[in-house]
Amino acid sequence: MKVKQHSDKVSRVWPLFTNIDVDYGEGVHIYDQSGREFIDCTSGIGVTNTGHCHPRVVKAVKEQTEKLLHGQTTILYNSMLDRLTNDLQKIIPEKLNCFFFSNSGSEAVEGAIKLARHATRKPNIICFQGGYHGRSIGALSLTTAKSVYRSGYQPLMSGVFVSPHPYFRQYREEDVEERTRHCLAELEYLLHTQTSPDETAAMIIEPILGEGGYVMPPESFINGIRDICNKNNILLIFDEIQTGFGRTGEYFAFTHFNIVPDILVIAKGIASGLPLSGIAANKEIMDKWIPGSHGGTYGPNPISMAAAIETINVLEDEELVNNAKEMGDFLLAELQALKKEYPIIVDVRGKGLMIGCEFVDDNGNPGTVIAEKVRQNCLTRGLILLTCGPYNQVIRWIPPLTIKKTELEKALTIFTLAIKDSLGR
Ligand SMILES: Cc1ncc(COP(=O)(O)O)c(C=O)c1O
Repeated sequence: MKVKQHSDKVSRVWPLFTNIDVDYGEGVHIYDQSGREFIDCTSGIGVTNTGHCHPRVVKAVKEQTEKLLHGQTTILYNSMLDRLTNDLQKIIPEKLNCFFFSNSGSEAVEGAIKLARHATRKPNIICFQGGYHGRSIGALSLTTAKSVYRSGYQPLMSGVFVSPHPYFRQYREEDVEERTRHCLAELEYLLHTQTSPDETAAMIIEPILGEGGYVMPPESFINGIRDICNKNNILLIFDEIQTGFGRTGEYFAFTHFNIVPDILVIAKGIASGLPLSGIAANKEIMDKWIPGSHGGTYGPNPISMAAAIETINVLEDEELVNNAKEMGDFLLAELQALKKEYPIIVDVRGKGLMIGCEFVDDNGNPGTVIAEKVRQNCLTRGLILLTCGPYNQVIRWIPPLTIKKTELEKALTIFTLAIKDSLGR
């Protein structure tokens, strides 16, 4: 399949991974200009959790559009902001009882770094190998998922230290805890040798690695980090930009680890496609932020707020978090069965509807080529998927949380045929 490119008038910094000339989206489907239907198992990179153009979200957006397009947060009091924070508080623990909003995920990560520095009066941030936190210079400085994101932009922000992550696919099951202990020991050593607790404001981690390969670390790793932060008076930031709003079968992935971070970063699924992001923290921390020292023109835009308020209602009313869990369990089991049949699939893992399927080549090396072949063959047959991982060796499944079993079955049939095509069977 020949992949289309954007026109010469559009920057080539955006590669195009499909040849779909899009017309519209509805539910789990995307339709092209000729009316061809595709099952979208990307959700626009984990954004359209309520499906494309959910009628209730569209209605809320339409109504808001006729009332106010822009109302600057430092100029106007807008009660929508109270509705949004109250609705968010229903799904976010009371410990995180104060919110700040912006537009993109990267912007929210920038906000989290700046808040951590102001609140602690300490400069340094520790991030973890394989993490992805965005592309603006501050957020990129914390991003180590692939060199391509950093190449040509370095040197980046100073005061950032990278600690190892127990990405455990290459370890035998029984070695995982040992590997985890090693990573935690390295983290303590980093505090002892490079950035002392007195100088370390925060640690930032994705509770489940997204762009880095859909990797869920052992509970003991995340709990170990929480303990080290507590012991050393360091803030713990969870970047739940990709894992949030029901994606993993819980509203937020921190629930899987039975801990709460000090700062929670949210975006993507919050507003079903409208640009909105934010951070949540305890008021005591938030109040250390000096008024006027951070902000922006747009965040939070009223149309995005209307979309977010209705998105949270839809997630609740349609029990989509539960659906993510149920459909995720089904998808995981089906993909694990495929793994038994096709040795090129070396690992299937995930939580809820955030599932990675890792490929290897005949020599056991990262299966970059075969994963891309399978992805392309899926596309030809009407299924949109993305890859991730340091070598793009993982095919990730991130469908809308509205997806039904029949739709997943259809997608799985296409996926199986695409694997057969790719192996020339
Ligand atoms: C975990 C995580 N953090 C940050 C970002 C950056 O968000 P944005 O692309 O909206 O700037 C992403 C985007 O994929 C992400 O997955």
